[in-house]
Amino acid sequence: MPATLPSTTNNWWCDMNTEYAFVGFSYEVTACQDLDQLQREFTDIRQRFKGRYIRMYGACDRDGFYDDIINAAWEAGLGVHALIWFGFDGDDKWKTRRDTLFTALHANPKAKFVTRVVQFGSEPLFDGVLSHSELAAQVVAAKENLSSLGIPVTISEMVYGYQERGGAKDVLDAIDLIDAHMLPFFSQQASTASASWPIVLNDMNWFIENGEGKKIYLTENGWPSVTSEGVQSNSPKAVADIQNESDYYKLLDSKCTYFKTVPGGGVGWFAHIYSDAMEPGYGIYNYYGNLKFVFNPATSC
Ligand SMILES: *[C@@H]1O[C@H](CO)[C@@H](O)[C@H](O)[C@H]1NC(C)=O
Ligand SMILES: *[C@@H]1O[C@H](CO)[C@@H](O)[C@H](O)[C@H]1NC(C)=O
Repeated sequence: MPATLPSTTNNWWCDMNTEYAFVGFSYEVTACQDLDQLQREFTDIRQRFKGRYIRMYGACDRDGFYDDIINAAWEAGLGVHALIWFGFDGDDKWKTRRDTLFTALHANPKAKFVTRVVQFGSEPLFDGVLSHSELAAQVVAAKENLSSLGIPVTISEMVYGYQERGGAKDVLDAIDLIDAHMLPFFSQQASTASASWPIVLNDMNWFIENGEGKKIYLTENGWPSVTSEGVQSNSPKAVADIQNESDYYKLLDSKCTYFKTVPGGGVGWFAHIYSDAMEPGYGIYNYYGNLKFVFNPATSC
């Protein structure tokens, strides 16, 4: 990062065409990590794994939390896919979170240099908190609010969320880029992770055909090493174990050339999620902060 803030974000971000293959981690913030921890872990993501982004997951409503995210990301040299968390309760808290985030984005001069995109999520179509037309209107209003900062807006959603709302073309029209969820473990066709490529490709093809050529990231993307209350397969053959979790990332890593050539600037994928302390079984690190397996995916090919 430069010693002084540039005056504009013109030519600040990398060309979208370079943002393919592994780009970083989903990072849950529900624990309201302090600045020290954010800085330490963002630096680890940048230096140990060559991550370029974190994608926020969950919510922390502590005063000034997004400023800590901005400062930690700036210090580490990371970008952020920020998130307006809807939660699972169907309540209205997301409105205050939206307003708090927008206020921070306008107030903090570093915000537009680390915030790559603002997402409504997680899975607002699937969860049906808003109708798809209301959600599209929220995306449009957010783009207007953030236009002077040049921060794009999207939703964080799986293919089925769009499909079950008739394709939600109004939402697809409104979003600037696609932050797609890819969780093949839950497919009715799932067996082992290393056999999941047809499931991934099927969802990819829907986004490629319907996504109006917009850039695609796989944001909530992984395979669990254990099942839990909220993580149950829909296929008798789906396997959750650590071998399969690492096989999933090996599979994605082996498809680098495919991801590079997808229209819209290639596909960048995030690993969901940084640590088991954030979501049981999905971590690259376990509860004790040890790597669960070798994780060294390519960031270009
Ligand atoms: C953006 O949204 C915030 C929070 O709702 C509001 O305070 C601010 O006035 C808005 N700014 C613009 C330019 O619309
Ligand atoms: C996936 O998990 C199953 C069940 O634990 C295991 O037998 C298998 O070796 C793992 N990997 C593959 C490639 O099937």
